[in-house]
Amino acid sequence: MKALITAGGRGTRLRPITNTINKHLIPIAGKPMLFYALEHLSNVGIKDIGININIGERELQPVIGDGKKWGVKITYREQTGGALGVAHILRVWRDWIGDSSFIFYLGDNIVLGGVDKLIDKFKKDNVDALLALSIVKDPQRFGVPTIKNGVIIKVDEKPLRPASNFAVTGLYIYNKNIFKAVDKIKPSARGELEISDAHTSLIKQGYKVGYEEITGWWKDTGKPEDLLEGNQLILNNFSAQGGSRPMAGQFSINNEIQKDVKIDNGVIVQGKVRIGKGTKILGKSMIRGPVVIGENCVITDGYIAPFASIGNNVEIYGAEIENSIIMDGVDIHCRTRIVDSIIGSNVLITPKTETFPSGHKLIIGENSVIEL
Ligand code: DAU
Repeated sequence: MKALITAGGRGTRLRPITNTINKHLIPIAGKPMLFYALEHLSNVGIKDIGININIGERELQPVIGDGKKWGVKITYREQTGGALGVAHILRVWRDWIGDSSFIFYLGDNIVLGGVDKLIDKFKKDNVDALLALSIVKDPQRFGVPTIKNGVIIKVDEKPLRPASNFAVTGLYIYNKNIFKAVDKIKPSARGELEISDAHTSLIKQGYKVGYEEITGWWKDTGKPEDLLEGNQLILNNFSAQGGSRPMAGQFSINNEIQKDVKIDNGVIVQGKVRIGKGTKILGKSMIRGPVVIGENCVITDGYIAPFASIGNNVEIYGAEIENSIIMDGVDIHCRTRIVDSIIGSNVLITPKTETFPSGHKLIIGENSVIEL
């Protein structure tokens, strides 16, 4: 079985973060989002993985590489014609997929628990397509199935009046018959070839479309709050592996702290904590897990509270950070409390000066959200 992951599209709902970073590279619990998909796929023994990218994409390939890290072979392909819809991706990749069955994995979906159950069900039920469903509060944001007597009879994309509380998630397994549907459909009102229309077409043509409910946890990271929720849940589940070592101060066991991390005597570390190499935790800092801190950071008199994910080369002086994603190179030099925030790379936050004119001095990109 092959797998195809999506990593193109426009990422409009995550601006301004996606103005400068491909949505699929946004770090969730210290790792680019796409790494989770690659881990799940390599865990079930899939070796041949395609990644769909936008025309001209240059940022993703150096981060993901050729797949050796996961023991897989990665093929990148640009979505010729542009980001014309999720089903359009299948048209573009048709010859690469050939006659094999494949997992189609939307790269902005995060699941806990992996994809093995889905593959088993696809094989056991001998269906042409298997859709992973999940109960959600807001089905109108998703593809929604109409289910009668345990059978999906159609799927509507983002319906105003959803027929059920199920969302069709971004995890699908197909055999080659999916192309019979993908060839038939026409662009929707928003000008995209919708994957939900392909599913409905497959059903109408008499092919077997089964489903499996994801009972663990699933998230489409369409909105900023979804990223924070994803970050929170993965941090909650991360089991620290690798060498913990005794250090000065107070430590819980279970930590994964690289050998050259410097931790001052006055520092307190509690809960599950992962700290990358070269990082220094100084002064009277407190780190209360679950927390991930990247490489070469300096944290002085800071409080890194639960569900904070700190990138590489970050400097924090005197600030408290909780339930937030702080990306690489950020410099926070003020005694303030930052919660429920996503801070993009190389942002500088400093105390305001005491001189006039008073007020907040802001240099902020388009579509930013600030609560003052
Ligand atoms: O996440 C589940 C939902 O994903 C399903 O419930 C919907 O039925 C399905 O249409 C899709 O809806 P979204 O509105 O979330 O799709 P989005 O535009 O966010 O794109 C999904 C993924 O595909 C994401 O990784 C970006 C990528 N993509 C998207 C388009 C439109 C491409 O690579 N190329 C594209 O042309």
